[in-house]
Amino acid sequence: MRKIAVLTSGGDAPGMNAAIRSAVRKAIYENIEVYIVSHGFNGLIHNNIKRADLGDVGDIIHRGGTALYSARSEEFKTLAGRQKAADNLKALGIEGLIVIGGDGSYAGADKLQELGINTVGVPATIDNDIFGTDVTIGYDTALNTIVDMIDRIRDTATSHERTFIIEVMGRDSGELALNAGLAAGAETIFIPERNTKMSDVAERIQAGLDRGKKHSLIVVAEGVMSAEYCSTELAKYIKIETRISVLGHIQRGGKPSAGDRVLGSRLGAYAVELLLLGRSGVGAGVSRNELTATEFSYVHVQNKQYDNSIYQLSKELSI
Ligand code: F6P
Repeated sequence: MRKIAVLTSGGDAPGMNAAIRSAVRKAIYENIEVYIVSHGFNGLIHNNIKRADLGDVGDIIHRGGTALYSARSEEFKTLAGRQKAADNLKALGIEGLIVIGGDGSYAGADKLQELGINTVGVPATIDNDIFGTDVTIGYDTALNTIVDMIDRIRDTATSHERTFIIEVMGRDSGELALNAGLAAGAETIFIPERNTKMSDVAERIQAGLDRGKKHSLIVVAEGVMSAEYCSTELAKYIKIETRISVLGHIQRGGKPSAGDRVLGSRLGAYAVELLLLGRSGVGAGVSRNELTATEFSYVHVQNKQYDNSIYQLSKELSI
């Protein structure tokens, strides 16, 4: 393989830039011609493909977001759009494509394979919901951002002796909510993977109040319900003063943590190695600190398991 391209797609995640930089520089190190595509799959369709040099990825490793921009492409969902994308790559002699993104981006990469382009996925999403890797790029930074925000909320919650309901991202996954809840010392965590009864939550809050607790923190994953709905439901069981806080896209921004930079650097380079080994249709990942490659067909059908022991522990610690 002599020519490859790199793009980012879907929701941006801190550490994507480290992965872009690593893929581009590793390719150049291996004497491969490398191209960068801006605006994700849309960019492929509209030929936003440019030959990259070392300097094109300089001074980005410490920045949040993605220097290549991202998009959720409607056109790419059509066969005509994908054909155009594949034709544009082939016209430049590009045989391999590295797609840095989440599960939707992997699905797009998988489809491109059918049109003769070798594709490798690099898992980057704050949701940490991709099967085949212990952790995704962006998760660590987002988790730390959330915990930092909850710490701030805790200060004001204590001062006013209030209950706060904090809604966090994660789409259908409870990973962010679960681990942020544990790290921030939340009394209750709602995650899509588990059913938590509102009456039990109210009982726990009441027990806390009875023994003089100054505040209560509830973390709710967006995949379960909105903070607003949670507040309305809770009010049916207990009369307390509550406030809600929806953290929103703050969770996706910001300087990537060292962990995300290391992960992005490892996986970006590994994706190049996989293409050079003739692999296609796989997602790169890290499992028990070993680099791994998992077939897209497997990634699509498997659900990443959440760690019930963490849920249990957070319950035990927030009595
Ligand atoms: O998948 C990443 C993510 O941030 C989810 O946690 C969230 O549900 C979604 O993207 C938000 O997407 P958008 O930026 O399109 O609003």
